[in-house]
Amino acid sequence: MNYKRSPIEIESPEQYGYDKIKHNLSESSFTDMRLSDLDISLDDIVLAYGDHLGKPELRGLIAAEGAALHADDVMLTPGAAAALFIVNTVLLKPDDHIVVAFPNYATNLTTPRAIGCNFDLLTLRFEEGWRLDLEALAQRITPKTKLVSLTTPHNPTGVMLSEADLRRVVELVEANGCYLLLDETYREMAFGGLTPLGASLSPRVISISSLSKSYGLPGIRMGCLICQDQTLMQQFLAAKEQIFISGSLVDEEIAFQALRRKSAMLDEIRAKIAINFEAISGWMSAQSQLEWVQPQGGVVCFPRIRLDLPVNLDTFYQLLNHKYGTWVGPGHWFEHDRRYMRIGYGWTSRDTLLAGLNTITQAINDARQD
Ligand SMILES: Cc1ncc(COP(=O)(O)O)c(C=O)c1O
Repeated sequence: MNYKRSPIEIESPEQYGYDKIKHNLSESSFTDMRLSDLDISLDDIVLAYGDHLGKPELRGLIAAEGAALHADDVMLTPGAAAALFIVNTVLLKPDDHIVVAFPNYATNLTTPRAIGCNFDLLTLRFEEGWRLDLEALAQRITPKTKLVSLTTPHNPTGVMLSEADLRRVVELVEANGCYLLLDETYREMAFGGLTPLGASLSPRVISISSLSKSYGLPGIRMGCLICQDQTLMQQFLAAKEQIFISGSLVDEEIAFQALRRKSAMLDEIRAKIAINFEAISGWMSAQSQLEWVQPQGGVVCFPRIRLDLPVNLDTFYQLLNHKYGTWVGPGHWFEHDRRYMRIGYGWTSRDTLLAGLNTITQAINDARQD
């Protein structure tokens, strides 16, 4: 394995220092919760090793999301990040062929790279509304393909696969005898109806999720992978046991208590996100210097400074970060030109969001070269 740190991790707000940022528009989750928001007591937890797959009752709650899924189809992991790592390292060897959507959340690219896989990037384009081109996907899958890796709702664009397209992708992986790694970390933040949990559609699909984004709980590091293929699950469990043995019982209990109140929590969270989404949509519609593809879910979007606008990007980010104290995810976090920027609109209050957005307009004005 050849590990390399990614800019999105090196330059993340938690590494830079939250206290140095005035308007944090770089987050990809809902507002971080406090333990006291959850109103739970952890006093009775016995700090033993836990069930190696994870707390059975919590796995049961997660499995209830998908038709015909069982608690043993769910394995808890420290964040979706660990689930992605386990799935990639179990399924892939050096030189294996994989098809991965691009851009993507960094780990979906960096782990297969660290393994030394043979990549076919499925490039999503602004001009095409960041939509997945199913024909292009079908052409890239070969008998040698081991894995197709997609994210929906997508990070950094917020664009989603429709249910019909998801079912078509599942047919493609089944017909070709490969697997679909479906990163559904933002699934419960879809603005319209939810698509079925990928893993409920076929044993060839491995769904990845976590409580980090939709519930604002990244600090408990609670994610999962979901898969109906019990032979594969044994391999995933072997990998988990070699790294962690079992998960943190404290994290699992907090996650369990939160998910027991899932429907009330999500109603409140979605209502707050809707307020901020309206704010950013209003702001975007007044921008002549920026353009975007409206997201369909999640809490991030990936607008760009218009290509014909003469802007010094070094000056823009210098002013944005250090004069105005605003942090966004610059395009290079996603191996894109820095005219693109990921804006997270679900983490701050509406007022801080609008104040931060206005500094983006100001920094572009200041950095214009015409
Ligand atoms: C699409 C996606 N998958 C997985 C993760 C990892 O999140 P966590 O490990 O906190 O669950 C992230 C974090 O940004 C993400 O955006």
